[in-house]
Amino acid sequence: MSFGLLKGKWGLITGALDEKSIAWHVARRAHEEGAQLILTNAPVALRLGQPRMLAERLSAPLIPADLTNPVDIEKLYTEALQHAGRPLDFVLHSVGMSPNVRKGKAYPEIDYDFYFKTLDVSAISFHKLLQIGRNKGAFAKGGSIVALSYIAAQRVFPKYGDMSDAKALLESIARMFGYFLGKELGIRVNIVSQSPTPTTAGTGIEGFDRMFEYANKMSPLGNASAEACADFVVTLFSDLTRGVTMQTLYHDGGFSAVGIAEELL
Ligand SMILES: NC(=O)c1ccc[n+]([C@@H]2O[C@H](COP(=O)([O-])OP(=O)(O)OC[C@H]3O[C@@H](n4cnc5c(N)ncnc54)[C@H](O)[C@@H]3O)[C@@H](O)[C@H]2O)c1
Repeated sequence: MSFGLLKGKWGLITGALDEKSIAWHVARRAHEEGAQLILTNAPVALRLGQPRMLAERLSAPLIPADLTNPVDIEKLYTEALQHAGRPLDFVLHSVGMSPNVRKGKAYPEIDYDFYFKTLDVSAISFHKLLQIGRNKGAFAKGGSIVALSYIAAQRVFPKYGDMSDAKALLESIARMFGYFLGKELGIRVNIVSQSPTPTTAGTGIEGFDRMFEYANKMSPLGNASAEACADFVVTLFSDLTRGVTMQTLYHDGGFSAVGIAEELL
């Protein structure tokens, strides 16, 4: 069902790799709500994933960009602004990757080159996306920017490894930039902290299935799906949430507020 919540708005969606990706669902819902979109993903993802299929379905330009690379981001905004012919109303950061987690390195044993890569891809890329976008005048007044996080930023989930540190940094960047962009342009910057979701990045975490089941039992509403996450993100992009900024908003079926569920006793 469409409510026309994003009618007349232009948005940039990063990280839609395949039909399981949270960003894929957000792009689909934002389009349904009347937005016009620009899609981007890492050049390697354009070869491996199915982003082109999504771009065709949504009649959206797909611009390759490694979001750790400022030159790529500059080019991304230049092309996006040419397409839209005006500044962007919303942006989704939906990017994460840890070489330490991929290679099964336990947190106390992490490799520091990998650690820098984790932080760069999963958190500092958000700062770069915001800094370069701001400098290029790419954001419309009153717009909305969202990035995705996980509760391992606040609590220990041992197998989430150095991604926990990346998410803590990501959430801080949202708060800090939210202050400056709010003052300058009335732009909101929020984090959505999502339930475990069976995507390529999610299932790359060792023991994902058990974490998923545990969270599902702990959450009174059950784990929140990628589809529900997209619905929530669309409300944050809309004008209905124009007083909400610099927040980590839990979209997790209630998980974050529960100490223990009866099923687990
Ligand atoms: N899946 C979960 O359980 C879960 C839970 C909470 C938060 N999140 C977060 O949601 C976001 C999206 O992940 P997802 O679960 O949809 O998985 P996904 O694997 O579908 O998406 C991750 C995306 O990051 C992109 N990416 C990686 N390195 C990049 C780079 N250098 N430049 C540009 N793009 C790059 C990938 O190509 C991919 O499209 C991530 O921030 C993730 O941490 C996921």
